[in-house]
Amino acid sequence: MTPPLMVLGLESSCDDTAAAVLRMDRPGKAEILSSVIYGQADLHAAFGGVVPEIAARAHAEKLDICVTEALAQAGLDLSGIDGIAVTAGPGLIGGVLSGVMCAKGIAAARGLPLVGVNHLAGHALTPRLTDGIAYPYLMLLVSGGHCQLLIVQGAQDFSRLGGTIDDAPGEAFDKVARLLGLPQPGGPAVESAAAGGDAARFAFPRPLLDRPGCDLSFSGLKTAVLRARDACMAERGGLTRQDRNDLCAGFQAAVADVLAEKTRRALALYLPDAGERPMLAVAGGVAANRAIRAGLETIAAEQAAGFVAPPLALCTDNAAMIAYAGAELFLAGARDDLTLSARPRWPLDEASPALIGSGKKGAKA
Ligand code: KG4
Ligand code: ZN
Repeated sequence: MTPPLMVLGLESSCDDTAAAVLRMDRPGKAEILSSVIYGQADLHAAFGGVVPEIAARAHAEKLDICVTEALAQAGLDLSGIDGIAVTAGPGLIGGVLSGVMCAKGIAAARGLPLVGVNHLAGHALTPRLTDGIAYPYLMLLVSGGHCQLLIVQGAQDFSRLGGTIDDAPGEAFDKVARLLGLPQPGGPAVESAAAGGDAARFAFPRPLLDRPGCDLSFSGLKTAVLRARDACMAERGGLTRQDRNDLCAGFQAAVADVLAEKTRRALALYLPDAGERPMLAVAGGVAANRAIRAGLETIAAEQAAGFVAPPLALCTDNAAMIAYAGAELFLAGARDDLTLSARPRWPLDEASPALIGSGKKGAKA
């Protein structure tokens, strides 16, 4: 395959069904021609989390519609497509299977090349799609299902410096919101409550900062918020708006501190081999948080590294990132055939030891 390359991407690993068409002119230079996303939040709202069977069924129903819309918005039909990229893991297996089967069907029917993409690689390569940044760069991936610090050396070459050993930060934001009676998704609700709060009122822990390395933990922090909430309720028989705001502010400050310090450590490991233009990039829904983003920007500036945060629509789950990662893989000669299988777990850095835990929003790998 030689560029320009038209790639159809499919994503269905969690609770968003998505299809996108992307034109790659060369690695690091691509244009999104369409990006269609059907979220499933309303289907899962009553259950307090993503229900895998409901998700898989909804993906199977919506994938064809997404593909049709993505092609139409790009002004193409399948004859204009050079290859199909599909998320083949990690994630909720029923959803990943729906996407892989759909992609195989199209590839077989049209004789098109197929490549399976690691969902985390899609997130990790997004700063190349949005800003064309060069390898190697440091990536902090922070979402409802993922939390990893990676050196991205190539489309298939990742070194994981650390990751969460329990909850992902977005999961912790969502749980704290539930504890405090705030709406889902919890991140934006906690952030806006925190704006009116005093972060110093509650002394929340900074988990794992007392230990060396870049691994992170958020589950103890959530428990600390629960205890502080219960203490407030026991004292006054309920929570005032100020209590809620202070709890949110304290929790958010703790998450921001932990992410900034672990990222600072990861930058120190990355910088010696970073080349002339060191870069820190973030991806994932939690990267939308202004306090967290500000902390990371400060860390990058202190180390004279650039900072890239893709627009939110490309930080959260989408198929354009899968099409982009697939395009880089196609250009590197990667191909899958109809034996491509769906993988619930698929670490980006196969050499790193597995991380513990599997979030409500999918495997952390
Ligand atoms: O990347 P994403 O859309 O989905 C996956 O997890 O794959 O991330 C969603 C997560 C949710 O947990 C949500 O609460 C969190 O990102 N989030 C935020 C903010 N906006 C979204 N967390 C903190 N602050 C925010 N402003
Ligand atoms: Zn994701």
